Amino acid sequence: MNSLQTTTQAERILDAVPDELFIGGWTPSQDHRTLTVYNPATDLPIKTIADGSPDDGLKALGAAAQAAQHWARTSPLDRSNLLRKVYEAVIDKSEEMATLITLEMGKTLSEARTEVVYGADYIRWYSEEAVRFEGRNRLSPDGLSRIVTSKEPVGPSLLITPWNFPLAMATRKIAPALAAGCTVILKPAELTPLTSLFLARLLGEAGVPEGVVNVVTTSNAPGLSEAMMKDNRLRKVSFTGSTVVGKRLVAQASDQMLRMSMELGGNAPLIVFEDADLDNAVKGAVTAKLRNGGQSCVASNRILVHESVADAFVDKFARQMAGVTLGNGLDPATALGPLIDGRAVDKCALFVEDAIGKGARAVVGGKRVPGAGHFYPATVLDHVPLEARIMHEEVFGPVAPVYRFATDEEAVSVANDTPFGLASFIFSRDLNRVQGIVDQLQSGMVGVNRGTVSNVAAPFGGIKHSGLGREGGSEGIEEYLNVKYVAYDRA
Ligand code: SIN
Repeated sequence: MNSLQTTTQAERILDAVPDELFIGGWTPSQDHRTLTVYNPATDLPIKTIADGSPDDGLKALGAAAQAAQHWARTSPLDRSNLLRKVYEAVIDKSEEMATLITLEMGKTLSEARTEVVYGADYIRWYSEEAVRFEGRNRLSPDGLSRIVTSKEPVGPSLLITPWNFPLAMATRKIAPALAAGCTVILKPAELTPLTSLFLARLLGEAGVPEGVVNVVTTSNAPGLSEAMMKDNRLRKVSFTGSTVVGKRLVAQASDQMLRMSMELGGNAPLIVFEDADLDNAVKGAVTAKLRNGGQSCVASNRILVHESVADAFVDKFARQMAGVTLGNGLDPATALGPLIDGRAVDKCALFVEDAIGKGARAVVGGKRVPGAGHFYPATVLDHVPLEARIMHEEVFGPVAPVYRFATDEEAVSVANDTPFGLASFIFSRDLNRVQGIVDQLQSGMVGVNRGTVSNVAAPFGGIKHSGLGREGGSEGIEEYLNVKYVAYDRA
């Protein structure tokens, strides 16, 4: 494994990241506590930044509340033009952004570049949506009144983002909020806050007014969110992260009746039917498993293969997974970077041991990688029984368990046997069968004959314990809008 040291270029990029909280109209006190960000590939510190307190969260909320009225009154076209400027600024700094993402999160530089395009695209998409949200004007059924609706920004919004897509998860929330006319407080993940601070700088330089976007980095996320959610100036919370934390936030939100968007855990099944194009199914399975190192809530967590093609599928799939080079994401030869931290590696190891103990066979990988950094290899487990933990819990790493099924009914029943319902993937050449299975799958998104579903123009989100609301597409902006209905007397 190549363990690259932080290069001079990387140091220059890190120097360009602000190390203070980004709160409009407020200068942080000098006695601020700090938090240190580590590179998961080396486990070495890369930058020390401000560690915000719950009080800082309230100051950020104050700034967002103060800016809210003015921002809500800007014209949709002005907001659109400003977001377009931000999009161009992010594209202009693509290489810096990508390097920063790799340094703090670990993914390969090529995946980080893809994330920058994906993340920037949310800004471009919502710069276009800013001028498109509509109300309606119609006669009431009894003919006595006119029903007129319009949309208004929900108000100051707390956006809590995860570590796995440090840029894209921030822009997927900030862009629709700003387009709708909301001001925001972004609380990035403690493990990967640098990309958000860099983005905040670009937002400021592009001309986003003071207080409209505030960024509070903290190691005390529960304390910060609790303090802010008790304050009635806050009107919305959008969270991407674990179901456990999401449920706690939903419970807390009831006090102030906050609007909520929750993008939570998944347990995506990937089903390969006997009539599938096997090469395409293998390609899709590799993508669905290894995109972002398996650290995505839409990663395929369980691979269900019809028993008649399982040997052939496992053979081809294992050969592809065995050829994946593990290493530091900055090394161009690397196809799979480190996991985010030691706990993530422990979880993969634990789930693999559990499955093997229950009868599974490791065809590829399945062993920890010694040395510095948090590495776990691409792993394929065959003959995984339904009792294995990995069939029920999200592994969030590059471990692919294969389960062999006999009938379509069994495949659907296994696929739906989970409290989660975010994404599913199916591979079949028979469109009638595809439609029938899609209708039965309990998930918010389904990929058909492909290993990805994510797209800025599509509504991303889940059902059951995978969350509430949608991000992306024309649906995403509605999450930041309230409907106002006016009844005009027709008499
Ligand atoms: C996630 O893992 O939370 C988001 C993944 C994506 O947007 O594709």
